[in-house]
Order: sequence, then C-alpha cells, then structure tokens
Amino acid sequence: MNAEELAAQLGAWKQDQTRLYRGLAEQLRLLIRLGSLPPGSELPPERRLAVELAVSRTTIAQAYSLLKDEGWLVSLQGSGTRVAHAQPAVAPPADYGAAASGFIADVVRDRVRAVDLTVPSPPPGPWLMTAMSRLPALAAAALPGRVYEPAGYPALRDRIAGKLTTDGRVTAAEEVIVTNGATQALSLLAGALTRRGDTVLVEELTCPTVLASLRTAGLRLVVVPIEREGADPQAVEAAVRRYEPSFIYLIPTYHNPTGWTMTEHRRAAVAAIARRYGVPLVEDLTLADTRIDGPLPPPPIAAYAPGAQIYTVGSLSKVCWPGLRIGWLVGPRRELQRIVHLRAMYDLGCPLPTQLLAVELLDDLPQIRLERQRELLRRRDTLLAALAEHLPQWRHESPHGGLSVWCATPRPLQQLNHVAQRHGMQLMLGAHFAVGARSYLDHVRLPFTLDEGELVEVVKRLAGYWVEAGCG
Ligand SMILES: Cc1ncc(COP(=O)(O)O)c(C=O)c1O
Repeated sequence: MNAEELAAQLGAWKQDQTRLYRGLAEQLRLLIRLGSLPPGSELPPERRLAVELAVSRTTIAQAYSLLKDEGWLVSLQGSGTRVAHAQPAVAPPADYGAAASGFIADVVRDRVRAVDLTVPSPPPGPWLMTAMSRLPALAAAALPGRVYEPAGYPALRDRIAGKLTTDGRVTAAEEVIVTNGATQALSLLAGALTRRGDTVLVEELTCPTVLASLRTAGLRLVVVPIEREGADPQAVEAAVRRYEPSFIYLIPTYHNPTGWTMTEHRRAAVAAIARRYGVPLVEDLTLADTRIDGPLPPPPIAAYAPGAQIYTVGSLSKVCWPGLRIGWLVGPRRELQRIVHLRAMYDLGCPLPTQLLAVELLDDLPQIRLERQRELLRRRDTLLAALAEHLPQWRHESPHGGLSVWCATPRPLQQLNHVAQRHGMQLMLGAHFAVGARSYLDHVRLPFTLDEGELVEVVKRLAGYWVEAGCG
C-alpha cells in the first residue's frame, strides 16, 4: 500500500496531539486486525508516510518500532517494513475508538472543538418543548403498563408502522423494533446477520458511524461505485455473485454524504436482486424526512419486493433531534423476533419517557417536517451563497434533502485540515466516508445545521484557511 492510500485508510488518528505515535500505532494495529493491511504487505517508507501525514519522521519511526516490539510488524534487511505473517495472540481490547470517525472519538473524549463541522446536528424546534410539557399527563396514563418492552412501547411501534405504511412500505406494528437511534438498529443488524470475517456490500462513500460499527464487528467491506441515481443494480448484482455478502447496506434517500437519491427504477431493480439471491438488504432512511425541495423521494426499496428480506432503518434524529435517540428497525416478522432477543441482551429497550415523547412527535410529524424544511431551505441557500462568494473554486450541487453539502475541491485537503484544526475548526473530510480505492481527500462535507450568521462566518474563515494552506 503506498503512503497516500494508507493515509486515506487511517482516518482520524490525531486525537492525542501529545503522543501522536501512539494514535498512529493504534490505528495501524486496527487496520492489520481487520485485514485492510494483510499479512506480508509492505508499509510505506517512514519518510514518505511522514510527508503524507504531515508529521515528523520520528512519529512514524516510533509507531513502527512500537508495533515491531508488539509483533505486528517485522523489518527484514533490504525489504522495508512489513505486516507480520503471524499476528500476536492477544488482540488489544482498547482500540474501538480507533475505528471511530473523528466525530465519535471527539465526543467520547469530550474534546469538542470551537467550531465543529463534523456532525450535522439539527437544533430542536419549539415542538419539542410542547411535547415535553405533555409528558406528565402521558406518563400518568402509560406508567402503570409493562416496564420492559424490548421491541418498543406498543403505541410507538404502532405509530412507526403507520408512518412506514404511509411512506410506501406496508408495515404492521409487530414488524417494528424501536431502537436507540438508527445507530443501534444498524449495530443490531450487523450482529444478527453476520459473523466476524463475513463480507458486507456498501457504497464507496457511506456514513462514517456505520462504517466504524461494521469495521469494529470485523467485517470485510466490498464496495459498489456511488452514482447520482443510486447504486447501479448491475454492479450490485455482480458484487453479490462474486462476494456473496451477508447483507447489502444502502442509503437510498438523501445519501450521506452526497445528498443523492436513488431512482425508482434502481430501487425496484436492487429489491429484485435481494429477492432473487436471497441476500438481506438494509436500507438506511435516516435522512428521508429531511426533504428541502425537488420531487418527493420514491417509496422505500422494500416497497418494491414485499416478502424479501429487506430491512428499513429510520430515525427521528435528523427531522426532530438527535438527542432523543429514537430510531427504528423494520423487517420481516420472523427475523425480527430473533433480533429482539439480541436487543434484550443489550439494554432491554429504550427509555419509556422518550418513547412517549416520540409518539407525540410522530403524531405531529407533518407539521414538524414542514418547519424543518423551511429552516433547512434557508440554511442550505445561505451556505451555498457564501460558498459561491468566498470559495468559488469549490464545486458542489444544491442537495434536495439532508443536512449537508458535499464539496469537491481543486486540491487535496490535508493541509487545509491542519490549518483549520490549528484554529479550532474540525472538518469532515471525504476520506472519512470513503471505503474503496479512491480516497476522496479532495472532498469535504459541510453541514448547514448552524444558524445563518454562523454559516457565513464559517465559510469566510474557511476561505482564509484555504489561502493560509497555500491552496488559494
Ligand atoms: C445515514 C445515517 N445513518 C445513521 C445515522 C445515525 O443516526 P442516529 O442518530 O439515529 O443514530 C446517521 C447520522 O449521522 C446517518 O447520517
């Protein structure tokens, strides 16, 4: 693997600026364990990797040396540094954070930067307070009921089934599990549908939190190219035949990070592939309720192949508020029964008060969606206008939904990233979303969930950093 490819795979490892080599070693260890750096593969020379990562050669030398001492790497006379053929017997348990995106690692380490552009977090609207004010009365009616409901509070399962049916996937309450965000739904699916070492088919750009969860579960990822019309069914079918994945994971509506939406035609075609090959398909509709303009998105993929093993994952995080931690997993009844048992082992269910709130919010969803739409429209257009004025070299589209703009830049962004970090701004570079051979180091995802004044300020600052990084 050359230095540029390795830098792209490494993701966010510079969390601990005081002991950089440890962060680098931790991430390299993880790549070896997950098979991204297979036994015998050669690592880039220290000097070249140091240039690519913009760190000193000593940092690389220390990281390599630590991994050699631990038995992960070997150096042979004249053949550089390679991954050892036999891995050390004890896999260190403490490196989950290394698989995580910069955002998760920062949250866990409570190291949030002054300007955090890593995660598009929509603010709660007044409707949240309204729903909360009704909580005492709702609780008085609900609390005498059952305490443990691992599949979810029945009234909420019912509302979610109703929402999915309106969206186009005919759903019964028994086909719904309420989860702690879409994140838990996706972790449960990874746990239920795979074993360590299995293969999962993903788009070449995809949600970093999901990537972290799949990688940490020890899964091998194979990719299909990303396209404006959604994943190409021919590429999906070819990959299914070749790699026999345990499941296919797609983000068909307002894709994260590109914002693209899969066409009806392609939805029908991939649904048919899932049915024909009996391969489970997971569609992540977490962003589906954040339409800003343009045509209404097509129905869920599952609507095109009733009875196939297609799971629809959704969430209130983007349309309402991520702090609620309410999401859902919808799928075939028989499989869900198995997954509920898995879920019960983790947490026995979501907190009841939040589920009561979610019932209220789903009852008000059409109105909430409309308010969110107006706000996102204003903010998206503010961001696009600021980019056009201050960073006209950056290319982007105007997304019809979602919470961010996907920008292509004329130069790789590592240098800009270093400058931004120095000034306390945390960016989400394209490399965090990239799975395949292409690194996307010349892309960045900019959220428009800040208020309008802040958005303009952020773009002005970015334009300054762009010049400071020698790119402008
Ligand atoms: C496509 C996608 N899936 C899942 C998630 C996680 O959502 P939740 O907050 O519901 O766990 C996100 C959030 O960023 C996302 O963009």
